[in-house]
Amino acid sequence: MTAKSRSKDAIAERLAEARRRTLDLIEPLDVEQLNRVYSPILSPLAWDLGHIANFEELWLVQTIGEREPLHGDLGRLYDAIENPRRMRGELPILRDAELRAYLDDVRNRALEVLDGIEIGSDAEDPLLRDGFVYEMLIAHEHQHNETMLQLLMLVDGYELPAGAIADGASGDVPSLSGQYGHRIDGTSASGGAGEMVAVEGGTHWIGAAAGGFAYDNERPRHAVELEPFEIDRTPVTNGAYVAYMEETGAEPPLYWERDGERGWVHTAMGRRESIDPAQPVEHVSWHEADAFARWAGKRLPTEAEWEAASPNLGLPIAGQVWEWTRSDLLAYPGFEAFPYREYSEVFFGDTYKVLRGGSWATHRDDLRPSFRNWDLLQRRQIFAGLRCARSRDASR
Ligand SMILES: [Fe+2]
Repeated sequence: MTAKSRSKDAIAERLAEARRRTLDLIEPLDVEQLNRVYSPILSPLAWDLGHIANFEELWLVQTIGEREPLHGDLGRLYDAIENPRRMRGELPILRDAELRAYLDDVRNRALEVLDGIEIGSDAEDPLLRDGFVYEMLIAHEHQHNETMLQLLMLVDGYELPAGAIADGASGDVPSLSGQYGHRIDGTSASGGAGEMVAVEGGTHWIGAAAGGFAYDNERPRHAVELEPFEIDRTPVTNGAYVAYMEETGAEPPLYWERDGERGWVHTAMGRRESIDPAQPVEHVSWHEADAFARWAGKRLPTEAEWEAASPNLGLPIAGQVWEWTRSDLLAYPGFEAFPYREYSEVFFGDTYKVLRGGSWATHRDDLRPSFRNWDLLQRRQIFAGLRCARSRDASR
């Protein structure tokens, strides 16, 4: 077997692994649940599934394979920018058996196309060089799995199937719903809640180096000058957040409610559970994260600080939370959109804040220090918490 056919086999296997995870996530659901609009800010799952298949058809079958689409101009219904989430439940999208057949038919065609092309490091087409377009498609399916998990939090009685998040978290399938992050030991000598790590000022290199897969917004790698700062060794815990709420009267995170004398419970997948004080807080907005950091006498880190600190902190670690930063989503100096403007360029500006790291629902293949996630400042359905920083001068 040649090196090229081995790497094609590896791509085919990773496409299959991503698809198994997608299908595992929806396996417990019926057609009505797949089509239901649970929230105006989350797509019905049937839309996500059709969009996953359509994106694959667009790039791997139409663009790379130069073939006609299976369903004419149906693809426009799955364009994420043309069709905001609040409208997706009303669209005449594929459903039920037709939807399943579309997922399978597109995959079969994509594999036929893969069979007939060259994808090495010397490929002329930048989409094929080092298999870029396949990496993009695999990452896309993983990222939609995380969005689907945001919606699955709202499905009463949903049970996470075995293995559904094994690649994103600790490898254990949680018996309880809601929060699957690693517990943070506040007393261990190796660094618990509240401890901060010092990072030297000076020149730090930020962003993804050339070669290997990364999104356009992670490039080019470039130098930034940072003042010395300190950053929390661990994400803020539920316990710390409860102390903040009790002192200030701040709103609880999404899905939390008071439970009489006993404190706080959260509801996920229709089940109420007590809050574990040692787990990272999640489902807080950027505004809430920012307010917590100020209350703690600190601030949110910039994304450059987060990335500069990531080797000291061993980040990103699977099984935690996305972490809000104080940075707007902006282009790095010398940015070039690839392979299309709508991946990131159209989102640049002060409308979105950057999140770094990854959550328990993030596939481990997508965890890298340069990865930039982003969302609106008020969003709370994402699996996001925070870690605080402070300038070194201010701490003296
Ligand atoms: Fe997408």
